[in-house]
Amino acid sequence: MTTNNDFTYHVPVMLQECIDGLVINPDGIYVDVTFGGGGHSKAIFEQLSPKGQLIVFDQDPDARNNAWEAPNFHFVAANFAFLKNHLRVLGFPLVDGILADLGVSSHQFDDAKRGFSIRANEQLDMRMNQSGDVTAQNIVATYNEEELARIFRAYGELDHPYKTAVELVKARNKSKIKTTGDLELVRNIDGGIALTFATTSTGNITMTGLMGSVTPLSSLTTTSSSTGGLVLAGGSITTSGDQSHAVIISANNSVSLISNSGSLSINRNVTLTGSTSNLLLKAAANIDLLASRAVTTNGGSITFHSDSDASGAGYIQLASAASLASNGGNITLGGGTTVATGYAVGAGSVTDGITLYQATISAGAGNVILNGKGKSTGGIGVYIYGNDSATASANDSGITTTTGNITINGYGVSSLGLYLLKPNTHIISSSGNISIQSTGGVDLY
Ligand SMILES: C[S@@+](CC[C@H](N)C(=O)[O-])C[C@H]1O[C@@H](n2cnc3c(N)ncnc32)[C@H](O)[C@@H]1O
Repeated sequence: MTTNNDFTYHVPVMLQECIDGLVINPDGIYVDVTFGGGGHSKAIFEQLSPKGQLIVFDQDPDARNNAWEAPNFHFVAANFAFLKNHLRVLGFPLVDGILADLGVSSHQFDDAKRGFSIRANEQLDMRMNQSGDVTAQNIVATYNEEELARIFRAYGELDHPYKTAVELVKARNKSKIKTTGDLELVRNIDGGIALTFATTSTGNITMTGLMGSVTPLSSLTTTSSSTGGLVLAGGSITTSGDQSHAVIISANNSVSLISNSGSLSINRNVTLTGSTSNLLLKAAANIDLLASRAVTTNGGSITFHSDSDASGAGYIQLASAASLASNGGNITLGGGTTVATGYAVGAGSVTDGITLYQATISAGAGNVILNGKGKSTGGIGVYIYGNDSATASANDSGITTTTGNITINGYGVSSLGLYLLKPNTHIISSSGNISIQSTGGVDLY
């Protein structure tokens, strides 16, 4: 007998446990229904006397190359669904033990032409029995969303089987999915991927338009120590999951999050650790820093720029306990093509240009500039809303710098330019200038 024992085809898993579990009787009859590279079969066979019998199944014709010749060894090139029939025909209606090592073999993954693996870009196939009619390519091209979701749910171990099916159908409507590489089109659907971009040169990483929607994205990290930055223009990024940060910029990079026609909503913390890292959040419409979220830099500047004009509906809003903090860099909220135009105008429920709702801006030694314009009917230009408690500071609202200047341009149209509401509201510059220009008046309430 010559048996394959180099395990290059497939390394048998839990070999000793399987053999122990079978409690082999040397004169008994045993069946391995998933022969593959024959590693388990060989270990069983070695325990058998010439009287003992081993019958093996594999529906993959390649597996036959691992079989050996012996009077008490029988290879059946078939699906083990027909086990009973084959055993009867071979004259072994009763057996002493059956081993099933279910799944694919390493060989099926390693041979790119089999179209199982996304390690190489080959025709999508995935047939174990290559004389079968149905390939994965057929299934991906013809099954509807429900049928695909059922397969992904049952066999795919995906967190979002239905969503993946929906995205796959969307992708195949744009272009045919023929290869394992084409599956990249739907690769990002499932489960909290982390993208890490590391540049070694001074170039930027730019994603323009093509991005579509990446959901969920657990983190986006740049690790370059160069002066390159990260530009996201178009598309959308949604972060979800338990991570505390949406974006961490770990060196002196600049990040621009630009939405040319939509809004930006920051629902995770953004931290720029490099001392000259800068952040620009620029949107044609609204920019929201959601409750308890912080945008923090270690010296670089933070800019929120809402570009809306007379036809737009933009505003900038820092929700409860949100904070902007830079250790010395400038913080600017505003935008528009000319100073103090283009915030909360047009449709939309928020009427005020810039709102700090029990939220804080602290710029260290940097300057803070707020340019806010309210909606034409009743909108306040810049609205800073503190809490009621005379002693609490946790939900204080306002702006602080040490030596920097604070400039507020509030444009109220038919309402206040600047409105400071509740006791714990502040605008403090320890030794810089504070300049307030208001159209529509200033109210301290
Ligand atoms: C994980 S591998 C088995 C590896 C094997 N135990 C070894 O030691 O090399 C699974 C093998 O079972 C085969 N297989 C999977 N499902 C089968 C089925 N329903 N009928 C027959 N063979 C099947 C595959 O073609 C593959 O070669």
